[in-house]
Amino acid sequence: MSFEDHHELGALVLSKDAIRERVDELGEELARSYAGRRLLLVGVLKGAFVFLTDLARATPIPVEYDVIAVSSYGASTTSTGAVRLVKDLDVDITDRHVVIVEDIVDSGLTLAYLRGLLLARNPASLEVCALLARDTVPEADLSWIRWIGFRIPNVWVVGYGLDTAERWRNLSDIRVWQGAT
Ligand code: IMP
Ligand code: MG
Repeated sequence: MSFEDHHELGALVLSKDAIRERVDELGEELARSYAGRRLLLVGVLKGAFVFLTDLARATPIPVEYDVIAVSSYGASTTSTGAVRLVKDLDVDITDRHVVIVEDIVDSGLTLAYLRGLLLARNPASLEVCALLARDTVPEADLSWIRWIGFRIPNVWVVGYGLDTAERWRNLSDIRVWQGAT
């Protein structure tokens, strides 16, 4: 039995190998940017947890990490616009160099909320590293996101931490989710 046997899954968007290669590059970039500084990665649960663990291991400096959990009100696939803090950080980020690690930028509301929340705590610096951003998000709206792994088409994707109603986070590739067929 393989993942491909499930008809809910559509076309391959990013293979496991393509993801690994890009995550390795991002890790090297983080290491170059934060050499000699204490870097704290903040993963946004649950979507970013797979990316966070791979990114941390691809970054050849001693990073620390913590997680934060947010959710949009409702469980639909369209954001309702309201973001709620579900689990706060354990560490104090005052005067720390912080990189928020997120799975995908869709409307950008989640990241805008998190950025405001964390900036208010006076970190030494705050950047964002997102694995994915949709093509439909204008470049200008992404100017404050320092690292983006891939731009993807405007389709619902699952795998590598991304879900549909909590399913398919465990796929190693990223695929189109096409629903029940
Ligand atoms: P935003 O606040 O609209 O940018 O939404 C971002 C969040 O929506 C992400 O952190 C994901 O949890 C979720 N999301 C957006 N698009 C997708 C998708 O294609 N697959 C799975 N989750 C998604
Ligand atoms: Mg999600």
